[in-house]
Amino acid sequence: MSLEYKKNTLHFSGVSIAEVAKKHKTPFYLYSEEVLSENYMEFFHGALEAGLHHPLVCFAVKSNSNKEFLKVLAGMGSGADIVSGGELLRALEAGIPASKIVFSGVGKTTEEIELGLKKGVYSFNVESVEELELINFLAGKMKKTARICFRFNPEVVSKTHKYISTGNKTHKFGILKKDILATVKNKKLWTNSKLVGLSIHIGSQLLDLKATKTAIERMCDVAIASKVDLEFLDVGGGLGIDYQASETAKVPKIADYMKMIHDTLEKHYYSKTANIARVVFEPGRRISGKTGILVMSVLRNKVSDGNNFMILDGGMNDMMRPSLYEAYHEISPVAKSSKKEVLTHIVGPICETSDLFGTRKMAPLKSGELVILRDAGAYGYSMGSTYNLRARPEELMINLARKLQVINPRGTYEELK
Ligand code: LLP
Repeated sequence: MSLEYKKNTLHFSGVSIAEVAKKHKTPFYLYSEEVLSENYMEFFHGALEAGLHHPLVCFAVKSNSNKEFLKVLAGMGSGADIVSGGELLRALEAGIPASKIVFSGVGKTTEEIELGLKKGVYSFNVESVEELELINFLAGKMKKTARICFRFNPEVVSKTHKYISTGNKTHKFGILKKDILATVKNKKLWTNSKLVGLSIHIGSQLLDLKATKTAIERMCDVAIASKVDLEFLDVGGGLGIDYQASETAKVPKIADYMKMIHDTLEKHYYSKTANIARVVFEPGRRISGKTGILVMSVLRNKVSDGNNFMILDGGMNDMMRPSLYEAYHEISPVAKSSKKEVLTHIVGPICETSDLFGTRKMAPLKSGELVILRDAGAYGYSMGSTYNLRARPEELMINLARKLQVINPRGTYEELK
């Protein structure tokens, strides 16, 4: 267990959180290099062990774009799934080679496409015919050949929060089968481009693999029907984690996920063609979610006609997920208490009623005591803002030698524009 109480005080990756907080002002993000390495290795080796061909794991940078964090992944051979020029530069700076970077996103700008072409990304995961036209034109201007992957919209409904479901034809993402097949045949669109792959990504925080399996089957059908010898099939990201105990049994094991992919590709692709496409993955949360916690202090308590409020120094600007998706994150005191638990609204200082991390039974804590929000390594800091003109929190990492590293200093007032 990376989080455990020792002598009633919470430790993360073997380090006392209270000790860290003596030297670092809350709120701060604390990551574990050990958990990150384990998660990446489990994923990559899971793919190899399932017999998947030449797997390329492209970490979804949007889930955690800290440069030092990405350097750890680069060191293990990870690629990157990026969705902006900023993420492209960040991934390259962290040491991830362009040859392992897939450029996703429904609204790439001309500048971003030019940057991708200049750096030589592994593929542009294209989301519309108009986007292909622009990439093909820009590639011609730059005397390059663009490597194109179509993001296929498999028309499935994935079981997750409606804001993070992406595989249905009512969503803005991907291209439908008939449009892909018509585009492949239109020679005018391919003067400076080459179709090298197909991809899907049907949603995030998926605990049920049925829709993913159907989507992969349909992607294989399109790949066969296209009659193109593709270099790769990209199965996207989306694999979920357990944010609460009731989800633990539902979380797909990496081995089962990889076996499902292997068996589906064998049956619907490899058995029908001599072409051996490699398999690309775009996991975010499954690798980064459990690598980090958000450490906060209690500012004060307030009772309002029987409603207990615990007001923390971290808010929705530091961690958006509970406010935006009503997402559940476990909240724990750093010092275990034997006091009687009471129903408490755990809130931040932001001037919004949605600035609520959760309503839980909790032992009362006094001003200055520490709490953590768990599983904050994915879509935590990366979705944060300076709303209410608040400086960004510090990011710290416990490295493999259990030493603390500042991997992104606390923001300052002067930096706030
Ligand atoms: N590939 C593509 C094209 C994506 O759009 C995403 C996530 C991923 C891969 C990685 O998905 P993951 O493996 O992390 O589920 N902010 C939301 C999640 C939004 C996901 C957006 N796309 C949240 O906090 O739950």
